[in-house]
Amino acid sequence: MKQQLEQLRAAALAAIAQAGGMEDLENARVRFLGKKGELTAVLRQMGKLSPDERPAMGQLANEVRAVMEKAIDEARIELEAAALERKLKNEAVDVTVPGEKVTLGHKHPMYIALDEIKDIFVGMGFTVLDGPEVELAELNFDRLNAGEGHPSRDWSDTFYFKEDSSVMLRSQTSPMQVRAMDTLPLPIRMIAPGRVYRKDEVDATHSPMFHQVEGMVIDKNVTMADLKGTLNAVVEQLYGKGTQTRFRPHHFPFTEPSCEMDVQCHKCGGKGCPTCKGEGWIELLGAGMIHPHVLEMAGIDPNVWSGWAFGFGLERTAMRRFKIDDLRLIFENDVRFLEQF
Ligand code: PHE
Repeated sequence: MKQQLEQLRAAALAAIAQAGGMEDLENARVRFLGKKGELTAVLRQMGKLSPDERPAMGQLANEVRAVMEKAIDEARIELEAAALERKLKNEAVDVTVPGEKVTLGHKHPMYIALDEIKDIFVGMGFTVLDGPEVELAELNFDRLNAGEGHPSRDWSDTFYFKEDSSVMLRSQTSPMQVRAMDTLPLPIRMIAPGRVYRKDEVDATHSPMFHQVEGMVIDKNVTMADLKGTLNAVVEQLYGKGTQTRFRPHHFPFTEPSCEMDVQCHKCGGKGCPTCKGEGWIELLGAGMIHPHVLEMAGIDPNVWSGWAFGFGLERTAMRRFKIDDLRLIFENDVRFLEQF
C-alpha cells in the first residue's frame, strides 16, 4: 500500500504539473481526490490492513492528500495569474492609435436667428415670454376681437380639441398679448416666440406647424411712430445697416390701424427678382396699434394707455437671414444641411 500511495503521489504531481488550464487541473483533482478518485480507492482498502500497519499508512495517506491539495492550490494560483496576464495583454490600449472623432451637434439655424432676435429685443428692454401651444379659443380669438363667425375660426383652418371649439392648438402667438395684459403690470414690453399651428399643406413656404414671434408694447403716449422706429432698428440689426422697410395698410381684428411691413429684397436690392417674385420687397410681418376694445377687454383704459403689437414668422426670418430657399429644410433636420451653419 505504501508503494501504491507513493505512485499515486508521483502520478498526481505529474498530472498537476502538466495541467495547461483550469479544466485540466479540475480533471486531475477529480481523478485523484474525487469521491470516486484514485486516492479514495486506495483508502478504502485501509480496512484490510492489520491494526499495526494502519496508523503509519493513515499518516502517509494524509500526507499524500495534503501534498496533492497543496500542489493543486499552487497550480491554480499560477494558472489564474497566467490567465490574467493574457487578458491584460489582449485588452491593452494602444494610446498611439488615432481616436475616433466625436462630432458635437450645434444650434439649429432657426434658433441661431431667434437668439439674435431675442438679444436685440432684450437690449431694448423687452421681456421674453413663453406660453402654451394648447390654447383657449377665447384667448386665441374672442379676446382678440375675432368673435363667433370670424373666418379665421373655421374648422378647416384650425386644429380644435373639442367639438365645441373651445380648446385648440394656437393659430398665432397673439393670445400671448392677452396673457401678458392679464398677468404683467403696466407698462409692458414683451416678445413671445413659439410654435403655432394651422391646417396648411406642406410646401416650400407652408407647414402645419411653424414659429412666430409676437411683440407688444403698452405704455402711455405710445404711437405708430414708435412701432416703425423700433421695427426699423430691429431690421437693421438683423439684416444690416441701411436695410429699407415699407409699411402697407392691412387688416387684423385686434389692431387698428393695422399694417404689414415689407423689407427690401436681399437678393436684388429692390430691383425685382425671382426671390421677391419681381416685387423688390418681401413681406416680413403684421403689426398695428392695439385695438382699444382689446385693451378694454383686458381691463386697461385705452384713454390712458396705448400700445402696438407685431407678429412675424420665425422660419421666414431665419430663411432670409441665412438665405435658405425652402421651408422644409428647416424641419427635415438633414445634418448635411444643418452642418452648414
Ligand atoms: N397674429 C397675426 C398673424 O398671425 C400677426 C399680428 C400680430 C398682426 C400682432 C398684428 C399684430 O398673422
